[in-house]
Amino acid sequence: MKTCIVSIVDQTEIKAQFGDNLLTVLNNQKNLSKSACRNGNCRICRCRLILGVINYQNKIPLALSDKEQEQGWILPCISTIVGDIKITDLNPLKTKGTLK
Ligand code: FES
Repeated sequence: MKTCIVSIVDQTEIKAQFGDNLLTVLNNQKNLSKSACRNGNCRICRCRLILGVINYQNKIPLALSDKEQEQGWILPCISTIVGDIKITDLNPLKTKGTLK
């Protein structure tokens, strides 16, 4: 299976597998991103993709406007990793397991 690198600007790099869900990768070991609905509706997990592409497959990022998507905002909870990416502007968890 193809290994992909998720780079988070000024933070870290995480190894992932082609086809992994981005939110799962961000939170598996390091709890780097808030989440709530996990289906693209609440936008709490949003971050900006500055390099590479993700795939929403058949899901729709309902919580993002067209303009936000043009600016690079993505929803990791419905994003499938299909190659190396670089992201920024994560909405981090302040305390593990809580939403703030
Ligand atoms: S967790 Fe709600 S849009 Fe991602």
